[in-house]
Amino acid sequence: MHIVEMRDVSRVYRNGEHEQRALDHVNLTFEEGQFIVVLGQSGAGKSTLLNLLGGLDAPTEGTIIVGGKDISALSDNEMADYRAAAVGFVFQSYNLIPTLTVIENVALVKEIAPHPLSSHDMLKAVGLSDHIHQFPSELSGGEQQRVSIARALAKNPQILLCDEPTGALDSETGVMVLKLLLSMCREMNKTIVIVTHNQNIAGIADVVVRVRNGKIQSCEVQEHPLSVEEVDW
Ligand SMILES: Nc1ncnc2c1ncn2[C@@H]1O[C@H](COP(=O)(O)OP(=O)(O)O)[C@@H](O)[C@H]1O
Ligand SMILES: [Mg+2]
Repeated sequence: MHIVEMRDVSRVYRNGEHEQRALDHVNLTFEEGQFIVVLGQSGAGKSTLLNLLGGLDAPTEGTIIVGGKDISALSDNEMADYRAAAVGFVFQSYNLIPTLTVIENVALVKEIAPHPLSSHDMLKAVGLSDHIHQFPSELSGGEQQRVSIARALAKNPQILLCDEPTGALDSETGVMVLKLLLSMCREMNKTIVIVTHNQNIAGIADVVVRVRNGKIQSCEVQEHPLSVEEVDW
């Protein structure tokens, strides 16, 4: 079974007379445990694609199946359950709550996720065991992004969706975050989708999807992806 299947998916935004096809008849399949990089210029439709997979938005046409479930046919309540249980999100802006400590930020997902993992374990996995009682503002950007990754993983999701996760980081810190995401993919067998305009990231992917004007230009499987060290960042 494919973990993700998008069949003839379109997302059209209507603004009065104007119609914007953010996604235009997209067909894609991803397998469990793959590290997928979606590339495209600004405005190509990358975030729209990710938002549809994450149940943050619904397609205008087409079918989206994640983990065997047709998420394009869910009610609002079912969609909320899907977001809570099945997907972890990592955004360019870390979206941590400034008045909660690191561990409290991660533990919040226990309120919504049906099968959460230990907040301590996840913070250990991202190398932040020594920072759990600090506030986000006391951490560097890279550390804050690692907290947001720990929080996403603590939901124990089937799939991790990352929108420009290194976009706000310097390249050295960005590489560290990518290394971490790749190790979560390999060690926890998580399916990870990263959307980015940074071409360099493609080298380490199992699958590289190129999006342009809302259309899939290409979808390549790389049998022998590079290690993070081999990429010229
Ligand atoms: N809420 C929206 N309303 C109208 N147009 C939108 C909306 N969200 C995105 N778009 C348009 O859809 C296209 C794709 O956007 P997006 O998926 O955000 O691209 P990317 O993430 O690749 O930069 C762009 O032309 C954008 O302006
Ligand atoms: Mg975007």
